[in-house]
Amino acid sequence: MKKIVLSMLLASIGLIASESTVPYKSGLLLPPQADKIYAKECAHCHGKDGKQTSSAGLTNVSYAVIAGMDTAELAKTLKEYRGGIKSKDYGPLNKYGYGAVMISATKDLSWDEIDAVAKYINGLK
Ligand code: HEC
Repeated sequence: MKKIVLSMLLASIGLIASESTVPYKSGLLLPPQADKIYAKECAHCHGKDGKQTSSAGLTNVSYAVIAGMDTAELAKTLKEYRGGIKSKDYGPLNKYGYGAVMISATKDLSWDEIDAVAKYINGLK
């Protein structure tokens, strides 16, 4: 009996430990994990530090350094790229003609996730 209780205890510790290492996956109802979202959805085009201004395969576009941008402005920009819940809320943004790229990068993000990512990018140095 003691052995069973002990192994159950160990199993539940194992569960708790593995939960904190669950990789980010869009669509799961977890609190926004801004750093993981940024790493998975944004860093390959905007750089880990948010200072990359062009990306492989997109040769004729150069966008702004996003690191340190104002949080509210970032959140608004991202929601505009993503498109609102009602399309009239946030028009599709297309600053340099490559807005479609940003739609696919943001379409799976919730408003909460966008707000969290905006705060994260504002903090990038
Ligand atoms: C496949 C490459 C790619 C990915 C991934 C990507 N972006 Fe972009 N981003 C672009 C391009 C291209 C533009 C310019 C779009 C346009 O024409 O308006 C842009 C524009 C932006 C801008 C506006 C910059 C400016 O010049 O004002 C912000 C802010 C931004 N992206 C943030 C993000 C965030 C946050 C993510 C992740 C959720 C992300 N991007 C993912 C390529 C990418």
